[in-house]
Amino acid sequence: MKRRTFLTGAGLAAVALAAPGIVHAATKRTLRIGMITPGSHFWTQTMERVGASMADRSGGAFETQLFPSGQLGNEATMIQQLQAGGLEMGFLTVAEFSNRLDDMAALFTPYLVPDVARASKLLTGPTATAMLDQLTGLGMKGLGFGLGGMRHLISRDAVASSGDLAGRKYRITPFAPLRDFYELMNVAPTPVPLPGLFDALANGQVDGADIDLELAWKLKLFDQAPNLTVTNQMMFPVVAVVSGRYWAALDDAEKAMLSEVVSEQIDWLFAQYAEFEPKWLDDLKGTGMTVTVASPDFFGDTLTKWHGIWDARAPSIAALQAEAKALG
Ligand code: BEZ
Repeated sequence: MKRRTFLTGAGLAAVALAAPGIVHAATKRTLRIGMITPGSHFWTQTMERVGASMADRSGGAFETQLFPSGQLGNEATMIQQLQAGGLEMGFLTVAEFSNRLDDMAALFTPYLVPDVARASKLLTGPTATAMLDQLTGLGMKGLGFGLGGMRHLISRDAVASSGDLAGRKYRITPFAPLRDFYELMNVAPTPVPLPGLFDALANGQVDGADIDLELAWKLKLFDQAPNLTVTNQMMFPVVAVVSGRYWAALDDAEKAMLSEVVSEQIDWLFAQYAEFEPKWLDDLKGTGMTVTVASPDFFGDTLTKWHGIWDARAPSIAALQAEAKALG
């Protein structure tokens, strides 16, 4: 249930005296935000910044509580809570939404963009912005797409082409377009939650993982999977969503403030990936990892076959490809 606390006496006076330009909300707004990432992850830090900025700009009317590391359950559970109005906001993987909205798979089109700079532009461009409206059908307001870096491969043994992956078990985030991508290479896609990934590599439950540089570095995966193939094969977007019920209860000024704050902090998130991806790559090289840069040829005919499945199921692929091409 959404918690509402009405200010009385001194509280109302404090709101009324707040600086010009801030929203003079008479209603105390609780904003609980759930995510699966831990405190050290940039997604969590982005939402901390949203909380601080909302408190600042609302003169304390918005009170944010963060629930990182899946404290409220996995993303499927958080989506249910958002739909029921039991959670106000989530910063959740688009992967999880693609399990409910086929068209979201378009954002995982292999080699749509080559790097985080282009990914950031595409995720704030007209096609992606229009795709946010699809979340209304799930009882949510989509405020903006962010990014979790580009995806690469890490493995226990060296790999030279997708042929070397056949018959192996690779950790994936479980969602259909990625599962298809690996199955087309005759890889056994194995869902492993992030906290268990280091051990899954250590004990041979998986031979490698579909991962980004941030996690390869922060989860110390280089200790167990010393081969990094830099493929940049996909983006890994995140989306800021608000419960439809909560959104409907906000007034226009509050809606505008929340939208602006989220979009400002997502810009901060994009800037972190642009700055840190090269650093993480250097850090990973510094661990003695064998780093190989691969072109799309690494995946052979997998890319064509993937489009054979997904172009019809995810119609936004065409518009995203056209927009990405125009980015140069
Ligand atoms: C992953 O499943 O790989 C993932 C989840 C959350 C943030 C980034 C990556």
